[in-house]
Amino acid sequence: MTDILVVGSGAREHALGWKLGMSPKVGKVFHAPGNGGTANNVNIGVDEIEKLAKFATEQKCLTVVGPEVPLAAGIVNFFTSKGLEIFGPTKEAAQLESSKVWSKNFMKRNGIPTARFEVFDDREEAKKYAESVGYPLVVKADGLAAGKGVIVCDDLEGAVVAIDKIMNEKNFGNAGSKIILEERIDGIEASYIAISDGETAYPMATSQDHKRILDGDKGPNTGGMGAYSPTPVISNEMAEVIQKNVIEKTIGAMKREGMQFKGFIYAGIMIKNDRPYVLEFNARMGDPECQPIMVRMESDLIDYITACIRGTLSSLPKISWSAKSAVCVVLAAKGYPESFPKDEEVLGLDVMQKESIVFHAGTRKVDGRILTSGGRVFGVTATGRTLQEAISNAYARAEKITWPSKYCRSDIGQKGLSYT
Ligand code: AMP
Ligand code: GLY
Repeated sequence: MTDILVVGSGAREHALGWKLGMSPKVGKVFHAPGNGGTANNVNIGVDEIEKLAKFATEQKCLTVVGPEVPLAAGIVNFFTSKGLEIFGPTKEAAQLESSKVWSKNFMKRNGIPTARFEVFDDREEAKKYAESVGYPLVVKADGLAAGKGVIVCDDLEGAVVAIDKIMNEKNFGNAGSKIILEERIDGIEASYIAISDGETAYPMATSQDHKRILDGDKGPNTGGMGAYSPTPVISNEMAEVIQKNVIEKTIGAMKREGMQFKGFIYAGIMIKNDRPYVLEFNARMGDPECQPIMVRMESDLIDYITACIRGTLSSLPKISWSAKSAVCVVLAAKGYPESFPKDEEVLGLDVMQKESIVFHAGTRKVDGRILTSGGRVFGVTATGRTLQEAISNAYARAEKITWPSKYCRSDIGQKGLSYT
C-alpha cells in the first residue's frame, strides 16, 4: 500500500486525490494544503518545499504535484535529491510552461507546430514591430501569470495597450519583463494531455476547456470555467497527429536536450484548416480538464504514476476510458478573475444528483460549514451516456448549490454539441 501526498488546493487536486484514493494499492491520501472538500489536509503551502519533503519523508508518501508554481520552483529536483518518490517534471523540464519565451524557442528549434512569434524586452521595439506586421496579434508575458498573462488583441491599438499593460505598468511583475508578440490563430481550441516517463507518452482522454468568463466565449480569459471529455474537436486522426508531431516530438527533444520530461504534459492546441498548432504547453494536468478526465479513467492512475517515476511506462497497456461523456461546470465567485467576495456560506452540497460529484476548489471548512475562499469555488462534474446527458446531470447538480455571489457559465459543453 502506498500513501500519497497531493500538493495543491484546487478541484484538480481534489479529483486526483479522489481517483488515487479508489485504488486498492493506495492507503491514505493527504492533501497539502487541500480545501474544504478534501480529507487528511496538511497545513503546508504549495511553495513550502522543505516542509513538504519533511512530511513526505515522515509519512513515507509518494508525492503528486498539481500546480505549476512548485514545479517551476524545483520541488521535483529537491524531493529527488532526498530520495523521495515524486511525480512531475523537474524545474528545467517545467520551463516548457514557466517560460513562454523558452517554450516558443524550444518549439521553433524542434519543428513543433506553433504560431509565428518574436520576443522583446523593449517596449518601444515591441510597439514598432506590432505596427509593422500585417496580422492580428496576441501579447504574452514570459513568466507564470496564473493564466492571465495573455492578451488576445483585435487591432493595433489593442496590441499597444497590451504591450504597455505588461511591460510598462508591470502588471505582471517579473513575469512581464520579456514579452512575446505572436500571430493570432483563429481556429478551434482543445486540450491534449499525455502522461510521460520521459521516454514514452500515453495519451489521456481528449478534452475542451472554456477559458473565457462569459457565455459564448466572451470576456477576459480565466483559468478555465468548465470542460468536457471526450471532445469531437479532436478526431481520432487528429489525436494521432498531435500525439506524434507534438507530444512524442516534444518528449524526444526534451530528452535530447538533457531534461527528460516526466509527468503530465498538456498541449493547448488550436486547430485551423485541419492542422494543429501549439498555443502553449503546461507541465501539469489542466484544471478543469482534470475533473472530466479523472471520472472517465478506468485504469488505475497509481500504476501509471509509479511507472512514470520509475521509467517503465512502456510496460503498461494504454490507458482505458469509459465510453461515457463527462462535463465539469466550474462554479465561481462573481467578480473572478478580478476581485470577488470570500467567506460566503455554501448551501445545498448534500443534495444528490445521479452520476455527479462535486470537487472543491476555493472552499474551506469551518465548524462543519463550507465557506468560499477563492475565485473558482467548485468543479461540479457529471457523466452521461451522451454529452447532452452529462451536461444535464452536471447543471442539475450545480443548480442545487448556492451562495450569494455564485456565478457559472450556462453553456459549458455546448461547443461540443454544436461541433460537426
Ligand atoms: P496561453 O496561456 O498561451 O494558452 O494563452 C491563453 C489563451 O489565449 C489560449 O487558451 C487561447 O485562447 C488564447 N491564445 C493564446 N495564443 C493564441 C494565438 N496565437 N492565437 C489565438 N489565440 C491565442
Ligand atoms: N484549463 C487550463 C489550464 O489548466 O491551464
